[in-house]
Amino acid sequence: MIYSSSDENIKKAAEVILQGGLVAFPTETVYGLGGNALDSQAVARIFEAKKRPSFDPLITHIADLEKLDELADIKDQRIYDLAEKFWPGALTLIVPKRDIIPSLVTSGLETMAIRMPDHPIALELIRLSSGAVAAPSANSFGYLSPTEAKHVEEDLGSRIDMVLEGGSCRVGVESTVLDLSREAPIILRPGGLTRKEIEAVLGPVDVFNRTTTSPTAPGQLEMHYSPRKILHIVDDPALVRVRQNAGALIYSDAVKGNGYAAVEVLSPSADPVEAAARLFSALHSLDQQDIDCIYAERIPEEGIGRAVMDRIYKASEK
Ligand code: TXA
Ligand code: MG
Repeated sequence: MIYSSSDENIKKAAEVILQGGLVAFPTETVYGLGGNALDSQAVARIFEAKKRPSFDPLITHIADLEKLDELADIKDQRIYDLAEKFWPGALTLIVPKRDIIPSLVTSGLETMAIRMPDHPIALELIRLSSGAVAAPSANSFGYLSPTEAKHVEEDLGSRIDMVLEGGSCRVGVESTVLDLSREAPIILRPGGLTRKEIEAVLGPVDVFNRTTTSPTAPGQLEMHYSPRKILHIVDDPALVRVRQNAGALIYSDAVKGNGYAAVEVLSPSADPVEAAARLFSALHSLDQQDIDCIYAERIPEEGIGRAVMDRIYKASEK
């Protein structure tokens, strides 16, 4: 059930987490499905509710910087530099874990994923509960990520204890996952924080490419973000001929969607930040229409546009 985020309901949600239950909550990126990261049983429930394979590790969310050293064994000064600069924010850091983090959270890896979300409801919930909340995106495994409370409710509502209302997520794509444990820093998942912003602190950073880099976490290959409908990527949806039963996911007003049964425009003024914020809502909406397939316009892979295209590529895979 969806609950308003009153002080009272956030307290109640924190109590649910402390008792081992599951609460979906808003972050600036997407809604997360939270459980106590220090409680293996709660963590097991997260995997079960999402039908997520246990080899795909979770992100632990914190609200206070002191927790970083309590949960992780940091020896690399760059981690502190990045955390200070970008937290709270859309950056997930891969760091060596301490024993207090159950191995189920990290799928047996010696490293953990950790971030501090930039959202007052999330921060309050984390502080009032265990201080360490494991939270994947609050969607069934492989499906579109949720950027509104109703996306969560429709997908997982019957399998979790509470959904906290937080409106639409401001960033709209998941956090950037950055791994500093290899020789050269590498972005494992493009996301809300751009490569350029990270490079301003670290210098050159690689981006994981599944054809040239071997994955460190099995889950990296398993993310799909897929709508139920077939999605084709095209340079110009206006030039596609078959349209009677098709939907169009269009980047900006420069392209017209005449003739399509359903049209979603990501950003009339071609602003990639706005496109990211609208992406999953637009895909959810198209997925619910009476259409056979979706034609998605390719968007420039600059800045956060790279994360948007990453999700569109994955949505096109079946
Ligand atoms: O924005 C976000 O990151 C959202 C919100 C809720 O915070 N969360 C999210 O979680 O997207 P999830 O579970 O959908 O994605 C977590 C990603 C996966 O790609 C997983 O493989 C990676 O983080 N990951 C987790 N632990 C890792 C580790 N130890 N090493 C490498 N990758 C890891
Ligand atoms: Mg996810």
